[in-house]
Amino acid sequence: MKSKKYALVIGGTGMLAQVCHTLVDDYYYVSVIGRSTIRHQRLNYSSPDSDKIHAIEVDYHDDGHLRYELHKAFQSFGIPDLVVSWIHGSAPHALNSLIDEITGIHQTKTWKLFHVQGSSRYFIKENTPVPENCQYRRVFLGFILNSTNSRWLTHNEIATGVIHAIRTDQIETVVGTLEPWDKRP
Ligand SMILES: NC(=O)c1ccc[n+]([C@@H]2O[C@H](COP(=O)([O-])OP(=O)(O)OC[C@H]3O[C@@H](n4cnc5c(N)ncnc54)[C@H](OP(=O)(O)O)[C@@H]3O)[C@@H](O)[C@H]2O)c1
Repeated sequence: MKSKKYALVIGGTGMLAQVCHTLVDDYYYVSVIGRSTIRHQRLNYSSPDSDKIHAIEVDYHDDGHLRYELHKAFQSFGIPDLVVSWIHGSAPHALNSLIDEITGIHQTKTWKLFHVQGSSRYFIKENTPVPENCQYRRVFLGFILNSTNSRWLTHNEIATGVIHAIRTDQIETVVGTLEPWDKRP
């Protein structure tokens, strides 16, 4: 592996595709989790450096398969320096499985977790337990408020906001706004 840094992007074939490309530009080797072969292929075709992108085709609801694929990737590439996680609420165990698999291999090397969450999670402020060697960062996806209306974020706004959070290493980022909440789309 030529890249010196390793990243894992969960849900990287969708609205976070530009995040994967930017990480490749920033000299990361990037593993990407998603179920669809076609979406993985699209991500690869749209990259000028597709040999730096490694597809992990898995449904994160299938915990055994998820752990198997993560373990295999970490054995090959080491534990990630950076994880960007966009996991739907229907798979609440998936992030813990990821953390377990990393911790099973390394308990001391520092890694960063950018936990991307939807707007409604902002008001819950849930506690996400992470090990000591994990630097936890949270990115909330908000909405855009104009003088007359509001709308949800575009893919470009989401990806740009997540990239900004990574580059500036913010502990908590809100992309767009979340207040006033009653003005959401
Ligand atoms: N605040 C906001 O404005 C806001 C917040 C959230 C979302 N959105 C919008 O809502 C749209 C839909 O959201 P979305 O989450 O579907 O976005 P998405 O990022 O386009 O798709 C989800 C990503 O996660 C992967 N994924 C989904 N389920 C998976 C599973 N069970 N196992 C493994 N990977 C899985 C998808 O690949 P596979 O389908 O191939 O598995 C894809 O890479 C987005 O396009 C975005 O524009 C807006």
